[in-house]
Amino acid sequence: MTNMRLRRPWDLPESAVTPERAYLDRREFLGKAGAGVLGLAAISACDLSGQEAAQEGRLSKVPPTPTAELYPAARRDRRFGPGSGHGGITEEKIVAGYNNFYEFSTDKEAVWRLVDRFQARPWQIEVGGLVERPFVIDLTELERTMPLEERIYRLRCVEAWSVVVPWIGFPLAALLKKAEPASRARYVRFVSFLRPEEAPGQKRQTWYPWPYYEALRIDEAMNELAFLATGMYGHPLQKQNGAPIRLAVPWKYGYKSIKSIVRIELSESRPKTFWNDAAPDEYSFLSNVDPSVPHPRWSQATEIVVATGERIPTLPFNGYSEWVAGLYG
Ligand code: MTE
Repeated sequence: MTNMRLRRPWDLPESAVTPERAYLDRREFLGKAGAGVLGLAAISACDLSGQEAAQEGRLSKVPPTPTAELYPAARRDRRFGPGSGHGGITEEKIVAGYNNFYEFSTDKEAVWRLVDRFQARPWQIEVGGLVERPFVIDLTELERTMPLEERIYRLRCVEAWSVVVPWIGFPLAALLKKAEPASRARYVRFVSFLRPEEAPGQKRQTWYPWPYYEALRIDEAMNELAFLATGMYGHPLQKQNGAPIRLAVPWKYGYKSIKSIVRIELSESRPKTFWNDAAPDEYSFLSNVDPSVPHPRWSQATEIVVATGERIPTLPFNGYSEWVAGLYG
């Protein structure tokens, strides 16, 4: 991003890494006990100790939600489960404490501290444009009507770092189908919230064209990999990760995965996108992860695993060629 700085994620200590097994055991435990009964305090408490407890703040940003009993959700598709070649789930503390969310700050390690005033509930999302049945739906109702599932996805930022996150949500296609896209619809545009009073980055960084906006081609949006997440790590989304609803398109650079969506619009002509408008030479419309095409200011051939500091090769389509390579004949 034009202003983005790499904040030395590789400096994170070895102790910051939780083995995937620990997350999975906890998840199983919560599933059996019923997360709705235990509540979020229990979730944060059960894997924090000593030095980690000092960072507990970043795990307590889950907005209260009337749909807590829907989490955690079952995993429906084994291809998105553990051991699917993603290299191990990143500990939640890292994913919740190292964020790109310019509405709050350009400092990745400061975002989680700045989200308190942001009201992620109640929330409505609107689906319109070239559709037969436009609608506005309250997020609570949406969570209750969609079949929630867990999917573990890799997230590869354009800045050459990556994390692996267990999201909970539903395929984007399922939401679009409810609206019955018109045959002329070729693109899907997403718009984030505009509330400078709640988001200090929107208030201060007036040179950005708020609200954040992104878009996909309709065939990309209908691909089964394109996912709308309302939860993570067995509970509703944390604010700094895009509560209450965000996109996860793991074969594209992270900036395509827009957070805190309020509107989805289908159109015939190609919509503009936030980073492409800001720096068209650096951020393309498609932005598929491609190790062979360097960013004008750095290589995309490798990436840093934020949790371990390890540098690993970047894979075409971020390892998701099987699902999406056919879209780009
Ligand atoms: N969505 C909004 N609304 N605002 C943002 O600044 N940053 C993007 C994307 N979605 C961004 C956004 C970028 S650059 C990345 S890498 C991912 O969110 C980061 O998601 P995470 O903080 O949950 O890891």
